Amino acid sequence: MIEKWIPQYDKLDASDQQHLDESFKTLDVDHIEKVYEETYVNPTTVDMGKIEEIQYISADDIEDFQKEKLRDSAKASIFKGEFAVLLMAGGQGTRLQHPGPKGTFSFDGVSLFELQARQLQKYMSEDSAPVHWYIMTSDINHVETLSFFEENKYFDLPKDNIHFFKQEHFPPVKKDKTLLLTPEKEIMLTPNGNGGIFASLYNSGMLEDMKRRGVKHVFMNNVDNAVVKVLDTLLAGLHLDNDNEVTSKSIAPKPGESVGRLSLVDGVKAVVEYTELPEGADRRFLNGNIGIHIFSTDFLDTVGKAEMPYHLALKKLDFLDIDLNVVKEEVLKFEKFYFDAFKYAEKHNTLQVDRKSEFSPLKNKEGKDSVETAYQDLKSEGLI
Ligand code: UD1
Repeated sequence: MIEKWIPQYDKLDASDQQHLDESFKTLDVDHIEKVYEETYVNPTTVDMGKIEEIQYISADDIEDFQKEKLRDSAKASIFKGEFAVLLMAGGQGTRLQHPGPKGTFSFDGVSLFELQARQLQKYMSEDSAPVHWYIMTSDINHVETLSFFEENKYFDLPKDNIHFFKQEHFPPVKKDKTLLLTPEKEIMLTPNGNGGIFASLYNSGMLEDMKRRGVKHVFMNNVDNAVVKVLDTLLAGLHLDNDNEVTSKSIAPKPGESVGRLSLVDGVKAVVEYTELPEGADRRFLNGNIGIHIFSTDFLDTVGKAEMPYHLALKKLDFLDIDLNVVKEEVLKFEKFYFDAFKYAEKHNTLQVDRKSEFSPLKNKEGKDSVETAYQDLKSEGLI
């Protein structure tokens, strides 16, 4: 059985084989087979006819006095300790080619982690309960992330208010469905996308920890938006005012921009990821996902137990070929997307904001969404 999944097995010595036997036993091969069939052999594509633009609230249409009211109610709730912040920082950040966790990338000595930590410092005053920060890492960056926080003295936040937990992993496979061996002769496992965040929060006990502290709402963001407004009180106020399960922030995408689209697919709230957008849909759906959402803890409780589907990503990875030489080839990687859980929310609103001062993603080394563009935006916002 194991030889079918690892064709190099017979070429390995007894101790390597024994090691592989142990790790192989922990894999659910039926599940791997099912995911391979569903995403690669018989993939379903999004039918353009089934996508509809969703309604959103434009921040420009909210009167100033109303904005103030929303912000005040959010502040009161934050001060009572009802909000926590959740950061997705388990990704590989391959496009950026930065050696280390993406959050450690620094502009004039200020890291992405620090830019976000600074925004939580204001809740360390006597008027406010502290905001707890939950950070999702993965096997590839957990140790380095923790050391970075340690070296930087937790950016002057109390260490006990920062909680790290690891995300799920899943094996990538070759196109012939065999498993990959790492150069260290281990079965390769990689972070399986950010959609495992709800199960990981639930299974790690972090959700329980939040609830025990009286947290009722969780603000979540991507690690790589250089100008993210962590715990934005306008979004939080809107979330409270509508008694929402999910509240999302969006922008109008630029032509060709790599952002998912918040939409209705077959009448169900979803994000159509930019990698899966049907031809011609780019300019038709103008509610771009920027990875900023607020969830109620009750919603997190529900989706923590839900099964999330896998999507296929083609990635070039280093692995051992049949003769045990290291090669770099395109393989199948399977990823879950957190927004597939939006269908479980009955109460969900989206606030569309102007991108300036809200969205400057650091994705690439050069060109669009790059070190240069993020640096310029940080400067013009006065953040560095
Ligand atoms: C993501 C969104 C996309 C959105 C864009 C905005 C997803 C699936 N897609 O795309 O709709 O328009 O951001 O910038 O979220 N992460 C993990 N673990 C993983 C993979 C990713 O924690 O296994 C984290 C990353 O560290 C990052 C966030 O999830 O904070 C987004 O991941 P990334 O791979 O950068 O997604 P994009 O393709 O840019």
